[in-house]
Amino acid sequence: MTLFSDPAVGIADPYLRRAFALAERGRGTTSPNPLVGCVVVRDGEIVGEGFHERAGGPHAEVVALDEAGERARGGDLYVTLEPCNHFGRTPPCVDRLLADGVSSVTIGMRDPDTNVSGGGAEALEAAGVQVRFAEDPRPFEVQNEGWLTRIRLGRPFVRVKVALTLDGRPALAARRRSRITGAGGRRITMLLRSRTTAVCVGVSTVQIDDPELTVRDADEQPQGRSPQRIVLARTCVPDTRMKVVCDSGGSTLVISDAVPESALADVERAGVRVLRYAYAEGLAGALRAVATDGVNDVLVESGPSLFSALWRGRLIDELVLVTAGGMSGNAAPPLFLGQADAEGADLAPVFYAVETGLADGDAVTVWRPRV
Ligand SMILES: NC(=O)c1ccc[n+]([C@@H]2O[C@H](COP(=O)([O-])OP(=O)(O)OC[C@H]3O[C@@H](n4cnc5c(N)ncnc54)[C@H](OP(=O)(O)O)[C@@H]3O)[C@@H](O)[C@H]2O)c1
Repeated sequence: MTLFSDPAVGIADPYLRRAFALAERGRGTTSPNPLVGCVVVRDGEIVGEGFHERAGGPHAEVVALDEAGERARGGDLYVTLEPCNHFGRTPPCVDRLLADGVSSVTIGMRDPDTNVSGGGAEALEAAGVQVRFAEDPRPFEVQNEGWLTRIRLGRPFVRVKVALTLDGRPALAARRRSRITGAGGRRITMLLRSRTTAVCVGVSTVQIDDPELTVRDADEQPQGRSPQRIVLARTCVPDTRMKVVCDSGGSTLVISDAVPESALADVERAGVRVLRYAYAEGLAGALRAVATDGVNDVLVESGPSLFSALWRGRLIDELVLVTAGGMSGNAAPPLFLGQADAEGADLAPVFYAVETGLADGDAVTVWRPRV
């Protein structure tokens, strides 16, 4: 996912590029499934389009073939991810492609989840369908890095967003709510929330800021869908007066087993779902619990403690820094708590900048870890 550039720029084939754009429409709602887009072409004309919207719903290929109807016979199908060849919640797409008689299939990327759904391309070829792959699978892999991260690492893709003052502080004073960025930074936050499956904050930020964590327009009105809301905690349960609890709309509390069951009764009564992880496993355990719950990607809006723990655990896949033009000074907490590694491991450029842009006077930089 990119903020300032076209992610489809490396896709040479115009029909695959269209399938990629369709897949994007499912961003934030397909977990635990991948984003998939599909077009059916007959005699150079698009006769069917589809994308996968949510788990349990029809796959992109089925939506596109439904729209194409009889015109699919002898046509060419373009799909961002290798069609599945297994019974999940829905029948195998390969069977449907064969039944509808498409003559060729062009695929953005292979399905790496071979135990579950692999062999789609081979099954199509064995049935006489011409199968091609995109020259460069990378844009399709980036599009589905949430799903790929969950499959490969057993945790969601972790995007961390922090607002900073010019002197690099994430708050104006310790344990006080502060508004750092202007309208531009706020807009970027809303955009990131609208594109994520779940938004996470630490319980300490809940207690201090009482955030809503929803997607709202400039007039504070709800706008489109809001992500699932997740509170990360080890030992401390949020107060039931906080918005993510009393106005829960399906919030989830991810808390360690150091907390007795009885301490959770009030938040559960308020409608909050509780996921447990072993205290000894730390944040990695918390994120595993989130992935097991079927979440492919999270946006963490972190204060210094959570940021530092994620950094130390090498659990950040992307860091979005929004810098505004004010100073906060010495009384404010730094972003990174504690001492940097004595051998200089924290000082070495373990992250590199991948994107930069302006948002109404706030500066946005996007960073990725060097692999
Ligand atoms: N500038 C920004 O973008 C931004 C964003 C968010 C917050 N903030 C500011 O940051 C301040 C709060 O920062 P904070 O450092 O107190 O809170 P934080 O970093 O947002 O969250 C810390 C909480 O995360 C939980 N947690 C779970 N696993 C953890 C682990 N392994 N290590 C550390 N914590 C873990 C802790 O729960 P337990 O207490 O149960 O251990 C802790 O209370 C506020 O002033 C807020 O306004 C700024």
